[in-house]
Amino acid sequence: MEGSTPSTAAPPLVIAPSLLSSDFANLESEIRRVEAAGADWHHVDVMDGHFVPNLTIGPPVVAALARVATLPLDVHLMISEPVRYAEAFARAGAHVLTFHLEATGDAGAQDAVRAFRDLGVPQVGVSINPDTPAQRLEPLLDAVDLVLVMSVFPGFGGQAFMPEVLAKTAWLREQGFGGHVEMDGGVDADTLPRCVEAGANALVSGSALFGAPDLAAEVARFRALGEAARRP
Ligand code: DX5
Ligand code: ZN
Repeated sequence: MEGSTPSTAAPPLVIAPSLLSSDFANLESEIRRVEAAGADWHHVDVMDGHFVPNLTIGPPVVAALARVATLPLDVHLMISEPVRYAEAFARAGAHVLTFHLEATGDAGAQDAVRAFRDLGVPQVGVSINPDTPAQRLEPLLDAVDLVLVMSVFPGFGGQAFMPEVLAKTAWLREQGFGGHVEMDGGVDADTLPRCVEAGANALVSGSALFGAPDLAAEVARFRALGEAARRP
């Protein structure tokens, strides 16, 4: 999909550092460091040890993050029962709340969107794993604010970007989807321009950003690369 021109203009660029790669012993200072670095959203990875083979954080920690964050919390639910726990995450202060289509199934996805909306979550997202076809999202595109295209199999930071998923991002824009298209997994200075060229506007990055010697400089570099890739 490199070099292809998305048929729909993407929303503004969003740089979302993934807190999964931050220092969990110092979350308050990490939140402040991300905000001082000029990022747009905090990406918060919620894993249940069932949908993915890893466990991370739950609603009490999200609520604690919300008390110190001024930027939106972009909460990525990698859990088997997103509807069951949606209220807890909505109350905790999730601004973007994203569930996985593989968790709900196609029929359940409509119900999940409705449930999240009824809870008053500001933005509702749906995510697909690398082996899930984007076409399965078609019935949801008018209903969601964000589609998260996973560019690794979810569960862990630090994995290699899977370029084959770029075609799904381009397809979403070709359908005229005007919401956020977010990519997550292996996004770094090399892969970010390819994501943006394909039509992504929201870029999640954990290990590349938190592993950089200067977080603010790396966020600025990501933004410059992203803006350059948006221009034809
Ligand atoms: C992976 C998570 C990602 C992860 C990305 O399952 O959803 O948000 O933190 O980490 P990197 O950028 O290191 O691939
Ligand atoms: Zn994530």
